[in-house]
Amino acid sequence: ATAPALQRRHASKQRFVVDLSQCLFDFVIQLLPTVEEMAVKEDVRKLLERLIRTIEPESRLLSFGSTANGFSLRNSDMDLCCLIDSDERLAASDLVTMLGDLLERETKFHVKPLPHARIPIVKLSLDPSPGLPQGIACDIGFENRLALENTRLLMCYAMIDPTRVRTMVLFLKVWSKRRKINSPYKGTLSSYGYVLLVIYFLVHVKNPPVLPNLQQMPPLRPISKEDTHVAGFNTWFFDDIELLRQRWHSENNETVAELLIDFFRYYSRDFLYNTGVASIRAGLLKKDSKGWQNDLSGGRYNDARERNRLCIEDPFETDYNVSRCVTKDGLYTIRGEFMRASRILSTRPERAIIALAELCE
Ligand code: CTP
Ligand code: MG
Repeated sequence: ATAPALQRRHASKQRFVVDLSQCLFDFVIQLLPTVEEMAVKEDVRKLLERLIRTIEPESRLLSFGSTANGFSLRNSDMDLCCLIDSDERLAASDLVTMLGDLLERETKFHVKPLPHARIPIVKLSLDPSPGLPQGIACDIGFENRLALENTRLLMCYAMIDPTRVRTMVLFLKVWSKRRKINSPYKGTLSSYGYVLLVIYFLVHVKNPPVLPNLQQMPPLRPISKEDTHVAGFNTWFFDDIELLRQRWHSENNETVAELLIDFFRYYSRDFLYNTGVASIRAGLLKKDSKGWQNDLSGGRYNDARERNRLCIEDPFETDYNVSRCVTKDGLYTIRGEFMRASRILSTRPERAIIALAELCE
């Protein structure tokens, strides 16, 4: 192409990414929870905490997941974790049963205790009402301190660059729900998994990086092992975000739209699905170095193979593959969706809003 033609193409690309970035902000802003919704959820948390304390006086009920990490969409469910600060506490399964009975008696929630699940929880839901048109869904678990810590880690990453990180994550959450690839029970990936893919991309793939690696930064003062370990795992990370923002600036000035386009391209073409493990703690790892290989066929390895199609290392619980529920078909569908998104964005239709609508169809 001639120089003027190239210039025209460059200008049209610039216009598209500026336009698309604006559309992405406008799109996610209208999907954020309202102030009223957040207030109602906080009231529900307080009410439940008060009731639980009639069984376990030394307990606290804390939010984790999207209600606490800055990646919440309107009407998302509530994840609550009960911590008990005394040494003589009831077993989680007994607590689940007792709490289930109590909530059934004392509240209007539909209650479903699951005392024998791998992680015992009480599931609650509230029917829609005029003040709460979508109702509320809520899970209460016990002593899941690692989930509280990983929620805090994601929140810190969101705070470093709220505009770009939150817009990307929120958009991907909506997109993956609309495209029906956000159901671990059906072989696709949880929201938590998608958030980790975004952070991995921003810390380890983008060059220069958009985010620093909070787990590898030098601590401000010496830290002892007791302070940093939860359930045997090192959960330390640099969490003084105010200070970090004074000392660290990303050299990467790409717009949200450019990052998103690149994100889809990377996960449709470049990520090494067969051999690679995405680790936000340590960068790209190898499946066989973690014992997560999927190339062993037959016999007793079939299970390991099915579990490790896609590998995303949990930031703290490093022997846990967050995407272990993703099946062969599920991964095929997810990659197909990454490719579709990449294709739609690379054709750059006349108006960015049209691309966005098509993307989330
Ligand atoms: N979690 C986890 N391991 C998983 C899935 C979830 O530890 N495999 C914990 C994480 O602490 C995560 C929380 O559960 O933050 C909630 O997970 P999820 O519901 O997937 O994410 P949300 O951000 O709450 O998304 P949504 O709004 O879709 O509920
Ligand atoms: Mg949730």
